[in-house]
Amino acid sequence: MKRRNFTAAALAAAAFVAALPALAQDNTFKIGLILPMSGQQATTGRQIEAAARLYMAQNGDTVAGKKIQLIVKDDTSLPDATRRLAQELVVNDKVNVLAGFGITPSALATAPIATQSKTPMVVMAAATSSITEASPYIVRTSFTLPQASVALADWAPKNGIKKVVTLVSDYGPGIDAEKFFKERLIFNGGQVTESLRVPMRNPDFAPFLQKVRDGKPDALFVFVPSGAGAAVMKQFLERGMDKAGIKLIGTGDVTDDDQLNDMGDGALGVVTSHHYSAAHPSALNKKFVAAFEKANKGMRPNFMAVGGYDGMRVIYEALRAAKTTGKAMPTGDAVLAAMKGQIFESPRGKMFIDAQTRDVVQDIYLRKVEKKDGQLHNVEFDVIKDVKDPGKTK
Ligand code: DHB
Repeated sequence: MKRRNFTAAALAAAAFVAALPALAQDNTFKIGLILPMSGQQATTGRQIEAAARLYMAQNGDTVAGKKIQLIVKDDTSLPDATRRLAQELVVNDKVNVLAGFGITPSALATAPIATQSKTPMVVMAAATSSITEASPYIVRTSFTLPQASVALADWAPKNGIKKVVTLVSDYGPGIDAEKFFKERLIFNGGQVTESLRVPMRNPDFAPFLQKVRDGKPDALFVFVPSGAGAAVMKQFLERGMDKAGIKLIGTGDVTDDDQLNDMGDGALGVVTSHHYSAAHPSALNKKFVAAFEKANKGMRPNFMAVGGYDGMRVIYEALRAAKTTGKAMPTGDAVLAAMKGQIFESPRGKMFIDAQTRDVVQDIYLRKVEKKDGQLHNVEFDVIKDVKDPGKTK
């Protein structure tokens, strides 16, 4: 080979190699999963990451000829970190979808990035009603606090609970829970005698609970984020509130399946409302719970896990259905369009992504903590079908 030809061939080879990452990237559909993997909300991150990985293990990592890559980032549940990580994922990693979002402030901090970059953003955990209105690119697979709270306010007065004190974490989802529970309870002839709010970070429930005890309501309605329920339960029992005749009720976040088994028999009989229980008696859920526990050293999936699992389903099916208009990778708008209107059976029951609101429509269950085979479970005893978020203004 003449020297000149050799050089030309080497240059061509070098150019080809240089182009390889671009080619590989073209065929890789990237999901940037931002979660609190450490800090106060770490259980949320642990549950959602495990569920996302289970979904991929069960459904493969190739969809419509594209290789799925999951990029997990820990935002430690600080919204400034969430926003910075989302920016990096969009600009540097060129992710096709943003997902995760353990708490409301993290989701709200990221919404403008989703809008500006036209990147679909799947909210798998955060549950303040207004989140889906913060960007037209947001789709939610978790739940909303108004969905869960209204169901409980319908149940309570029919079951001897008329006078209630509310105790909520003082931020978006807590304020939604307080407002929607109270309005509906009053509508149903009940009464909220006091509305207490505790700080979201490092709350001390003791002084609040003492106050509740003195007021002797029929029940204490509680919303705290996932991970804080066990502390509420412990202090409620330590103060002998149950013995004083005060019932503990709340959204299912308080009897979180992630912690319930460690709460002890004092939790027996607590009634909550929620969209998911690990004890949901469908065949699909039994399979989901068994596979999740097997893959995660016996860890029981909670409502965060199911939000992550279904979020992955929504992404996979959107990629499968998205119109690519001749291009290798569907645009963010095409993926978003294919997320809207999805209807399917989830481990929680039937669920639907409302095409107008991009929010989840689902069954809400009333559940009571019971012991089965030596384990505490949220056992469903009633259901309200196809609940749209009551917090939506349009
Ligand atoms: C939110 C966080 C939670 O852990 C939860 O259980 C419900 C709502 C939130 O920040 O939106």
